[in-house]
Amino acid sequence: MARIIDGKVLAAQRRARVAAGVAEFCARNGRAPGLEVVLVGDDPASAVYTRNKEKAAAEVGIRGVLHRLPDTTSEAWLVDFVASLNANPAIDGILVQLPLPRGIDVNRIIDAILPSKDVDGFHPMNAGMLSVGREGLVPCTPRGCMALLDAHLEAVGEGLDLGGKHAVVIGRSNIVGKPLGQLLLARNATVTMAHSRTRDLPAVCRTADILVAAVGRAAMVRADWLKPGAIVLDVGINRTADGKLCGDVDSEAAMAVAGALTPVPGGVGPMTIAMLLENTLLAASRRVG
Ligand code: GUN
Repeated sequence: MARIIDGKVLAAQRRARVAAGVAEFCARNGRAPGLEVVLVGDDPASAVYTRNKEKAAAEVGIRGVLHRLPDTTSEAWLVDFVASLNANPAIDGILVQLPLPRGIDVNRIIDAILPSKDVDGFHPMNAGMLSVGREGLVPCTPRGCMALLDAHLEAVGEGLDLGGKHAVVIGRSNIVGKPLGQLLLARNATVTMAHSRTRDLPAVCRTADILVAAVGRAAMVRADWLKPGAIVLDVGINRTADGKLCGDVDSEAAMAVAGALTPVPGGVGPMTIAMLLENTLLAASRRVG
């Protein structure tokens, strides 16, 4: 039976640590760290995510502001708005929720965010810093995955070094797959990036000591894709026909084969917001020197 890696408990611990750090930051600098969340349009899922981010910020003492902009917002206006947030010294973190409405070039908006305030870690400067092993801001979901992995390794008394381990990441998005591959590589794992064009994906997955599923397809990863004892991180959040949340892994069956598994919900999801709060405090601390 696989060990469940509880993201809710770990996220609560990390948020409590951020709250203490924020209190210290306030005492030293006479202001709270500031996070601006920008939502363009009325995508219902994005509306929920951004409200949760604003609420989570407030709970740890970060001054969180949510800007709801109409889907008629132009690209040029949004670039100017981001520039105004860049120039405001009371703002430490800027997050523009994705996806953006059609007609707005997402790259132009990401490029407009000052890398030092890019708490999503999506700016090409931060992506580049990660790939060359230098200090920048690292995307939240991959950081959350690494924190879950480390918490598990610590709990079972294994070292954090991943030398000799084979990690397979399914999904090559800029938000999750690619940065997570870099983080695993930096910890000495042998990393395979798998994706929709990979030949015989089940066979590749069966060689994984650590398997990360970040594809967005409900229960795609079957129990017979797993090496017995593998650590499985399930990044997927899918809704099934009957309205239930379901990961990318067939978790019920996987429980009998995997060594450890992150649940959905309650695994990677809660970690993403906790890491956003950490990134905001980190960005604020670096900015004040
Ligand atoms: N859309 C889905 N995930 C994310 C995220 O982590 N950050 C932003 N900005 N948009 C998203």
